Amino acid sequence: MLQILCLCLALCGPLTGIRAEPGALLRLGMDILNHEVQSAMEESQILEKMAAEAGAKRPGAKPIKGLSNVKVKDVLVPVITLNFVPGVGIFQCVSTGMTITGKSFTGANMEITVVLNITATNRLLQDEETGLPMFKSEDCKIILGSMKTNLPSNMMPKVINKFIDSTLHKVLPDLMCPAIDAVLVYVNKKWASMHNVLPVGQMGTVQYVLASSPATTASHIQVDFSTVVQPQKGKAIQADGDGVAPGFPEDSVKDSSQLLLSAAFLTAELALLQKSLDVKIKGKKIGELPPQTTKTLAGFIPQVAEAYPKSKSLVTQIRIKKPPKVTMEPGKSLLHLHGTLEMFAAKRKGKAPVSLFLLETHFSLDVQYSVHENRLQMITSLDRLLGLSRGSSSVGDFNAKDLTGFTTDYLQEAYLPRVNDVLQVGFPLPDLLAINYNMAEMNIVENALVLDLKLD
Ligand SMILES: *[C@@H]1O[C@H](CO)[C@@H](O)[C@H](O)[C@H]1NC(C)=O
Repeated sequence: MLQILCLCLALCGPLTGIRAEPGALLRLGMDILNHEVQSAMEESQILEKMAAEAGAKRPGAKPIKGLSNVKVKDVLVPVITLNFVPGVGIFQCVSTGMTITGKSFTGANMEITVVLNITATNRLLQDEETGLPMFKSEDCKIILGSMKTNLPSNMMPKVINKFIDSTLHKVLPDLMCPAIDAVLVYVNKKWASMHNVLPVGQMGTVQYVLASSPATTASHIQVDFSTVVQPQKGKAIQADGDGVAPGFPEDSVKDSSQLLLSAAFLTAELALLQKSLDVKIKGKKIGELPPQTTKTLAGFIPQVAEAYPKSKSLVTQIRIKKPPKVTMEPGKSLLHLHGTLEMFAAKRKGKAPVSLFLLETHFSLDVQYSVHENRLQMITSLDRLLGLSRGSSSVGDFNAKDLTGFTTDYLQEAYLPRVNDVLQVGFPLPDLLAINYNMAEMNIVENALVLDLKLD
């Protein structure tokens, strides 16, 4: 049974979508691809270039029998229609029109106005050199629509039409098909930033690496990423997904674009911040808390009053001992922190503070996600104190449970603002196709965060 399972993991993997390493998945819907191709058309100013090209003398270009001095003018603003071709890529149709001028074999100036479609299949491949996705056009065709000429219609219309038709079929592909390729050059450039190493403050970096060739379905292109989380020093942090590969929820809107970030990946990213979550907090007055003094503490642990007859202010040190862990279930995400909370107070003025006691704590934070400047932001609030036990104590025995309320309030008022400060660094999102994530709607699903991308 186990052998069959292993064999299947090896062989069925690519078919069933089992992923060894959960990281991030991106679904590119038609909304994003339309936007990309449109803007590439505009940026490349391709039709203007094409018209200029057509006017230029091209050495080596075959002369067209019976038609000389060919020029293109009045190119209509193209309308682009894209469709997914499952397993292949996208079918592209550019509907446009233009006027072609030239001298006919009779020596007459000829003007032909045509509307036409240029169609091609843009195959989605993985560039062997760079490992990046790329589109490559295949099978470029020109489909002529209606045609008008300045030639009198009684002038052997059949012969003329045949001539025009065959001539255009010779001239147009050379003129128009390079336009499709040139547009793809622009689109392909926008994949280039995908493998960039993205900083997480000074703490480390994140990289999204294409895990396999992007797959095209009838409704989207799916890009699977392996994620590399690298601290400033030391080895990369492994995303440990408990063997569960997260997937897009069944009911997610089919045609829309979405980014999925696994809880395991977010956990790996948060490990970069673990050290920054260690803090030392001083000061008598913190938020709504009672004065942070030994006198307040003596209200919970009477022995403190014996050790400190005169009230002294407290210094609190919190250390996070295990990497933070993110969990997700539909509609709710928690951040689990395991650490110690140690309280210090100076015996006498001018003396170094000494440890009163150390508490082992485990608490969970509610996480709210948002995107700001293409970085994933988290804001936390206290969910629950899940574990509290006494470690060392210089004030004698006491029951840690007596400090439950005190500790809970302390974490909420004093510690969480620090945590939220640290989290402000934000986590970079995949940088490709100039995708803007800022308006994304957040959905928490089983073991993953799904961003529904909205175009501006
Ligand atoms: C050109 O493409 C458009 C949009 O796909 C379509 O409506 C039209 O019929 C096509 N015209 C020709 C001549 O194929």
